[in-house]
Amino acid sequence: MPVTHSHRPPSPTHSAKMLERVLSSRRAPPHSDELANEDDAATADESKTKKHLPFFFFITRLINHFRIGPLWPCVIALFFVLFLISSIVFQSRNLVCVSPHDPAYRSGFFGFDALESDFGSLGVPWCRSKHGKTVEWTSKDLIKGLEEFVPIYETRPIKNNMYGMGFDHSFGLWFIARWLKPDLMIESGAFKGHSTWVLRQAMPLTPIISITPRHPEKYLKKGPAYVDGNCSYFAGKDFVDFGSIDWKKVMKKHGIIDLSRVLIFFDDHQNELKRIQQALVAGFRHLVFEDNYDTGTGDHYSLRQICDQSYIRGGGHSCYKDSDEARIRSKRKNFWEKAVDIEELCGPGEAWWGVRGYMRDNFNHSNKVISYEEHFQNSRIVESMLDVYWELPPVAGPSLTHQTRYDPARSPPPIVEDGRYGLFQRLGLTRLDRSVFNGYTQMVYLQISRQ
Ligand SMILES: C[S@@+](CC[C@H](N)C(=O)[O-])C[C@H]1O[C@@H](n2cnc3c(N)ncnc32)[C@H](O)[C@@H]1O
Repeated sequence: MPVTHSHRPPSPTHSAKMLERVLSSRRAPPHSDELANEDDAATADESKTKKHLPFFFFITRLINHFRIGPLWPCVIALFFVLFLISSIVFQSRNLVCVSPHDPAYRSGFFGFDALESDFGSLGVPWCRSKHGKTVEWTSKDLIKGLEEFVPIYETRPIKNNMYGMGFDHSFGLWFIARWLKPDLMIESGAFKGHSTWVLRQAMPLTPIISITPRHPEKYLKKGPAYVDGNCSYFAGKDFVDFGSIDWKKVMKKHGIIDLSRVLIFFDDHQNELKRIQQALVAGFRHLVFEDNYDTGTGDHYSLRQICDQSYIRGGGHSCYKDSDEARIRSKRKNFWEKAVDIEELCGPGEAWWGVRGYMRDNFNHSNKVISYEEHFQNSRIVESMLDVYWELPPVAGPSLTHQTRYDPARSPPPIVEDGRYGLFQRLGLTRLDRSVFNGYTQMVYLQISRQ
């Protein structure tokens, strides 16, 4: 599974030095290569057996059943023509922009294997980048990363991080920070300090700036929290919102000249369009948003919501109650807590964008109705700034994690696919409490620049 949203191969001349492929400073665990290769081999075997058998098995059964022995070449020809026509019809749906995470994209012209999983079956909206550039890491890198991260995660100081990150996003943030190797990490929204701890695990010596209204040390009085020794806190009486900080002054104080070597992590539930614009004005290039909520959900306007447009597969919605989407959504709502049906998706005047036509901000304390035109314009603004857009896939399929919240139909396929229990176990994921897999909300990594 390529972890790319691009239709192009990754550019060999990656602009930012930060994105150079650097091997981990941690020692690679033994057998990590074999683990990744084993994964590939197993995937290839599985797809081989699943792909073609049912079709020929079905024809043989039909020939036997109707005793059409002498006519079988005609029957096969007829099936082939029907198959060809259905493939063409199926392919013609690709006239909209299709993410490589999408089953329709992955299935190619003849292979329907990807449809066996319902991951992405309702479409996975994504943001187009300016030049189709993508990330350098692959699913093998993610699997190796998981193998390394699980034992680290087990040592976390805050075992129950309700209202903060669970396992999937902790892994995503750790993986991205460790890959990029920034000179400075900035987080906005620290709560008890779990994400500060994750950043510290990725980069043991790199300074951190943490912006959060309540200092994490306050939580220490009541229970587990994490306060970092090499972190400058804009917290408590020193709190200043990210958008109001004099970044020139702060960067100078930290000796940062090249802003493309700074990683910003937002987990502050603010309108993400506002945050990208603020980051761009300050000159930052690498951003991670923890909560990239799907359309119709969440307490702030997210990248996913912004890019949910009709030219993207899975984007643009109909509020028509008898539509296929309405029928599928109402079924899925019975299975997945975060799935929304058409009644929840659509507000007055059939407004489906954002959350029922609202652009939410600041934990849903601030709300603004936006028109469809405004929403459309927002996606154009975002696209004009984006160099890379990459959504973290869930770490493993729900049959393995037993998560019940996010709907796979609106999600890219997981790193460890359903049915790969052996791999799930080898990575140490069976040792974790199930509850840590319940917080996936499509964390996203962006690279931005002025047009
Ligand atoms: C979901 S919690 C963060 C969880 C944390 N990152 C973790 O993984 O445990 C959101 C945090 O954002 C803080 N917050 C609220 N408004 C903020 C703002 N304008 N800037 C930064 N943080 C803010 C809240 O006080 C809260 O601590």
